[in-house]
Amino acid sequence: MPLVRTAELMTAAAVRQGLAAFNVITLEHVEAVAAGAERAGRPAILQVSENAVKFHGNRLAPLAAAATAVARASSAPLALHLDHVESVELLRQAHAEGFGSVMFDASRLSYGDNVKATADAVRWGHERGIWVEAELGRVGGKEGEPPLDAHAPGVRTDPSEAAAYVADTGVDALAVAVGSSHAMTERTATLDHTLIAALHTAVPVPLVLHGSSGVPDEEIRAAVTAGMTKINVGTALNTAYTAAVRTHLTENPEGVDPRKYLTGARDAMAETVAGFLRLM
Ligand code: G3H
Ligand code: ZN
Repeated sequence: MPLVRTAELMTAAAVRQGLAAFNVITLEHVEAVAAGAERAGRPAILQVSENAVKFHGNRLAPLAAAATAVARASSAPLALHLDHVESVELLRQAHAEGFGSVMFDASRLSYGDNVKATADAVRWGHERGIWVEAELGRVGGKEGEPPLDAHAPGVRTDPSEAAAYVADTGVDALAVAVGSSHAMTERTATLDHTLIAALHTAVPVPLVLHGSSGVPDEEIRAAVTAGMTKINVGTALNTAYTAAVRTHLTENPEGVDPRKYLTGARDAMAETVAGFLRLM
């Protein structure tokens, strides 16, 4: 099964099935997502964040090329998504680099400025057949922000504001603040399932859960049942990667060949990927 487009996978997943999306930073992350998807027999989204692009010297092309090649060779359907894009310059590279979807993140702006910037991004994307996700409310725990176990009710997404936001921007999917937070290394978040159900009723597009690394399995299952469709996972892969490297280097203090410890790190990430995908 070759590279597919996010929109295609989202249409299939919208019937209360869920679709997991994994943030990739290195080639090993990309290979692990493909291996995990094959192991679980499920489709998945490979997503590259603006922060990952910054890590690679502000270059999107190398990781995009790796993700494209690995997805094309995979037996599981995999789509390419550009994640948490705040820079319009990066947004505009999505099409040329083969990304079928983008999350344009104007959530740090005021409501009015968020609507304006997102509507412009959606117009640009739709003219090129690109599916656009955006965020309303503050999930928290992004780079430069402390990770939160749960955010204050005041920053959670309001259903009627969400309905207006979707109508005013034309987005294809909406990331909402319902109790998860980015960069959690323990799975202790509790989601507001009543709010998820209310948002699902209020907005006509699929909902996206960010910060899913901190959400326990049963909470993710309940969220999908309540109407959450796209489940974004990043930190859990890094936790598995780093634990495997740390164990290997502790047991083999003289080792210098990165292939020796990256093999275990890649496999640990693939198991993590398969675990999340089996919840879908
Ligand atoms: O957009 C990416 C996700 O929200 C990942 O969040 O690293 O906390 O799992 P996480
Ligand atoms: Zn996120």
